[in-house]
Amino acid sequence: MTSNLVEPVLEIKDLHVSAGDREILKGISLKVAKGEKIAIMGPNGSGKSTLSSAILGKPGYEVTNGEIRFFGHDITVLPTYERARLGLALVSQYPQEVEGVNLYDLVDSALKAREMTEEDLFRRLREEAEEIGFATSLLDRWVNVDLSGGEKKRLETLLLALVPSKLAVLDEIDSGLDIDALRQVSHRIDALSADTSMAVIAITHYSRLLKVLTVDRVLVLAHGEFVAEGGPELAEELEHTGYKEYASQEVEESFPF
Ligand SMILES: Nc1ncnc2c1ncn2[C@@H]1O[C@H](COP(=O)(O)OP(=O)(O)O)[C@@H](O)[C@H]1O
Ligand SMILES: [Mg+2]
Repeated sequence: MTSNLVEPVLEIKDLHVSAGDREILKGISLKVAKGEKIAIMGPNGSGKSTLSSAILGKPGYEVTNGEIRFFGHDITVLPTYERARLGLALVSQYPQEVEGVNLYDLVDSALKAREMTEEDLFRRLREEAEEIGFATSLLDRWVNVDLSGGEKKRLETLLLALVPSKLAVLDEIDSGLDIDALRQVSHRIDALSADTSMAVIAITHYSRLLKVLTVDRVLVLAHGEFVAEGGPELAEELEHTGYKEYASQEVEESFPF
């Protein structure tokens, strides 16, 4: 899928990221093509969420070396909202509760900019809610406030469908979802990607996500570096072997069993 002739949606070169005075990512390079879906898997604490934070520009994650390019533009130091405006979206591992803001407020300006009428907006919201199995009675709530983990992930997927992005980073979208919800959310994301050529980086600890979300490539992150790359069969393999093979010396020393 990755071609040298087409400019990648995302290109990361030798990225080093520190947080809390510690280097967490130690030289990450990655290219993602238009419409391509990749999975990044790895043990707990390997740096998966740090990578998603760095791609989205979350404060507190300092890029000490390397760069991040989005359609060729250097976005390494851009604030998050500007990255979002360029077409980057994150479904966070822990979706944020936004008191005082409801869903309509959140999508209103983005959709009005696309010349969508109020009536169309409400219709689209209801359609998408039904498609993703998000109770329409919850549409009036403040964003993510008092929602269950599963409802939050459905709502984030609904937002992704309403406000199209060029690249979606999904950080453990499978956490908090039962298998039916996981299937619904994954199918919606697969369809979105097929319809709009949205690229996807799906971060997960478990191969079960990749039984329902189709990906082109799987990369394994361990102790801040990519240590393996393969097709979807690599996820199957990991289901049997676990991440033991990729455990760092540090981890093995602190857990000698
Ligand atoms: N803001 C931060 N400050 C200090 N340490 C952090 C911060 N964010 C992550 N870490 C540390 O970086 C390592 C990788 O964390 P994370 O990226 O969340 O891993 P994963 O998502 O793969 O489980 C962990 O040891 C974690 O404690
Ligand atoms: Mg994480």
